[in-house]
Amino acid sequence: MPGDLDKVFFTLGGAEANENAIRIAKSMTGRQKILARYRSYHGATYATITLTGDPRRWANEPGMPGVVHVLDPYHGTQRGTDDAQTALAYLEETIMLEGPETIAAFILEPVTGTNGILIPPDGYLQGVRELCDRHGILLIADEVMSGFGRTGEWFAVNHWGVVPDIITMAKGLTSSAVPLGAVGLSPKIYRYFDEHVFYGGLTYNSHPLGLRRGARDDPRVRGGRPDRAQREDGRGDGASPPGAGRQASARSGWSATSGCSGSSSSCATARRWSRWRPSTARATR
Ligand SMILES: Cc1ncc(COP(=O)(O)O)c(C=O)c1O
Repeated sequence: MPGDLDKVFFTLGGAEANENAIRIAKSMTGRQKILARYRSYHGATYATITLTGDPRRWANEPGMPGVVHVLDPYHGTQRGTDDAQTALAYLEETIMLEGPETIAAFILEPVTGTNGILIPPDGYLQGVRELCDRHGILLIADEVMSGFGRTGEWFAVNHWGVVPDIITMAKGLTSSAVPLGAVGLSPKIYRYFDEHVFYGGLTYNSHPLGLRRGARDDPRVRGGRPDRAQREDGRGDGASPPGAGRQASARSGWSATSGCSGSSSSCATARRWSRWRPSTARATR
């Protein structure tokens, strides 16, 4: 996991991981609001469909109280993508208008999945990290889709050197072979729960079946590397990271929405993703 994150709370899937992540954040900060982005998908449980910004949320509203949606840097094919500075200015305005001391966490997909493979402008995630730090807001990276090598790094945040407070994962954790999700925690978070009760729990938390499969797919066990997923130039062995084949659907069509034309690391990421063959694009999630 990125940075100092070195403990996990296991769940059965991505939505459950996000559910627990926001409850951990609320419990630790004593704050009630969660920021999430409009162009996002975070799951289909009551809380996570409320976090979800896209139209899948509409039929489930009013949903869980306290979720505030913010604009993404990307504004559709006509208006394109804001630069990092502009996107961060809008974000900070929302934080100030909502009251920073009421916001427990900001949950976001570092590279947005089902809403169009949206790669943020360089500097955006670093700026989000800085804003969260300044206002005592926890940063939750939802890497349920982007984790486990799917962007060419083990986690998408690694492209920008950003370390979230909490990271959620599922899917590629077991190549989607068995249900397993996880909430990765930094010491600042889990040490709080050394002294405080976390009012949560799951019957199948850390179920041996899931953990056995997770361990089998661990790259250190398999000897795999995420960069193998990037290679089409004959330099690598072409082996995919865990979950790559099953989860390729989101990679198709990236170029329509990424607005990528330069040589930034965002663009490099987009190019890598574009190399996935359409033949894999209809594979199941
Ligand atoms: C980014 C993201 N978060 C959360 C979820 C929900 O995961 P699950 O379907 O395992 O509950 C998904 C599922 O597609 C996802 O793409």
